[in-house]
Amino acid sequence: MGSCRIHPSILSADFANLESELRRISTADAVHVDVMDNHFVPNLTIGLPVVKRIGEASELPLDVHLMINDVDRWAPGYADLGADSVTFHAEASAAPIRLARELRSRGTKAAMALRPATAVEPYLDMLPELDMLLLMTVEPGFGGQAFLDVILPKIRRARAAIDGSGLPVALQVDGGITRDTILRAAEAGADVFVAGSSVYGTEDPDAAIDALRHVVAPTGTGL
Ligand code: DX5
Ligand code: ZN
Repeated sequence: MGSCRIHPSILSADFANLESELRRISTADAVHVDVMDNHFVPNLTIGLPVVKRIGEASELPLDVHLMINDVDRWAPGYADLGADSVTFHAEASAAPIRLARELRSRGTKAAMALRPATAVEPYLDMLPELDMLLLMTVEPGFGGQAFLDVILPKIRRARAAIDGSGLPVALQVDGGITRDTILRAAEAGADVFVAGSSVYGTEDPDAAIDALRHVVAPTGTGL
């Protein structure tokens, strides 16, 4: 197994108290921000102005996950507000290579996400254009859903392709990551873990982050 980075999702935080909620994940590697438009997914969250304030209010790198249609039009704006990475869905992009290049040209890491039923193989030639690949482990739209074990073979195939390419592409999983499921995802080859309810659904989110890391790297030595 490789490294283990934990990106808590503020979708499960208290939206009326985002600044204090961000302070509760001070040990996270980044904050994962879910942008939904009620079209690409059947849920509506936040947009550019709120994501901008989250970035200003937190020391953590911003990992923006766009679950929106017409993403070629909107994603560059999230790069411009200083996001560390911007993730668009392959299913929502008309020109994913052009969009990935556009994001990188604005100084942001380019990341592409796949819904659970979208095969990874058609996109493997795009790895040189990406800094991160996100394989959804639930149907996107809501926190608190159960991890889909059926995605594990896809994670393994993506890991093999990334290792074979020699490229420094991170492999992120998002959805249903808990102390029970994180090891399966890590063993399959994921190295960046989004966790919403299993972090913010606890009394002490920083302790929950530590517990997740400990499952993957029990010695705490970073493997
Ligand atoms: C779901 C979002 C996830 C969500 C994960 O569509 O993309 O980031 O917050 O929540 P949990 O960890 O509770 O499954
Ligand atoms: Zn997400």
